[in-house]
Amino acid sequence: MKPSTPSVAMHSRSGVLSYFTVFLFLVFALGCGERSADDGSRPILIKFPHVTAPGTPKGQAADRFKQLVDERLAGRVEVEIYPSGQLMSDDDSLDSLAFGEIQMIAVSLSKLDRLTKKFQIFDLPFLFPNLKAVEHFQSGPSSETLLRSMQKQHLLGLAFWHNGMKQFGGPIPMRTPAAAQGLKFRIMESDVLQAQILQIGGNPQKMAFTEVYQALQTGAVDAQENTWSNIYSSKFYEVQKYLTETNHGYLGYLVAVNLDFWDSLPADIRDELTAIITEVTQWANVQSVTINQTGLDKIRQAGSSEIVQLSAEELAGWQTAMRPVWSKFEKNIGVDLIQAAEEASRP
Ligand code: LMR
Repeated sequence: MKPSTPSVAMHSRSGVLSYFTVFLFLVFALGCGERSADDGSRPILIKFPHVTAPGTPKGQAADRFKQLVDERLAGRVEVEIYPSGQLMSDDDSLDSLAFGEIQMIAVSLSKLDRLTKKFQIFDLPFLFPNLKAVEHFQSGPSSETLLRSMQKQHLLGLAFWHNGMKQFGGPIPMRTPAAAQGLKFRIMESDVLQAQILQIGGNPQKMAFTEVYQALQTGAVDAQENTWSNIYSSKFYEVQKYLTETNHGYLGYLVAVNLDFWDSLPADIRDELTAIITEVTQWANVQSVTINQTGLDKIRQAGSSEIVQLSAEELAGWQTAMRPVWSKFEKNIGVDLIQAAEEASRP
């Protein structure tokens, strides 16, 4: 057979190219339709990955959000929840949200440290004595500024969801800060948490949530801080001999969306989603207390780790030891914001 002449070869290549162009156009058009348009032909997709188990405060809140959207926006909006870090880590989800590859997240406030220093307020040890104080602060005038503080990174905060107060786990009881000396602590990706562990003589290791169980099991880290619900649902209690009830910090989430996606929604859909998120937030923040209490009860029943309760004097020792962390971050956070949080914490 005669080899093709250059012109035939060019002709067939341009044919392939034009098919390819049409194909690309279709992919692009369908993709855009799926993400931002409400032309009635297919539902708007909200991909919502997170890292905890479905039974946790965040897992239940995310599922409730999906359930209400299914009921009230059937055929117009579809929510896909990916729990337990099965789709991506929290760190990756921040990037994916900014690029619009996913539409919604609920990441720990500590992990926003990469994007803004303002959220460091939530990691200051012993700033908030309980969830009521956090709620009081979050419903005050500062919260609107916080929710809107990452728009340059294409991220809009819609709500705060609680998990609960953090406890320490480790190979020994943590009755005094001296017990932390020399221990390797897994922490979330936050400079305040890093400073907190350094302050008590520990060795902080920033690590993704899904890696913690194995790190504790193999001895890559000795200790960790988390809520009862996370310690229970991720089985950290199986690989931690002692769990000390310190309530030294708050673990909560920012529910956030990609800003361009949010702005592109038809107004009635955006309003309905806002109403659903408000309803879910109220429900979830009540649930979180029970879920953490159940986690603690189940850890107790399992009997594989000892729960250590502190006396008022021991607790005061922890508060004094960790307090210098505040002044290290005062400049980043702003004295006004810290004062507003302290105000909100007064009984
Ligand atoms: C952690 O990494 O310990 C938490 O952020 C996990 C979570 O989402 O509650």
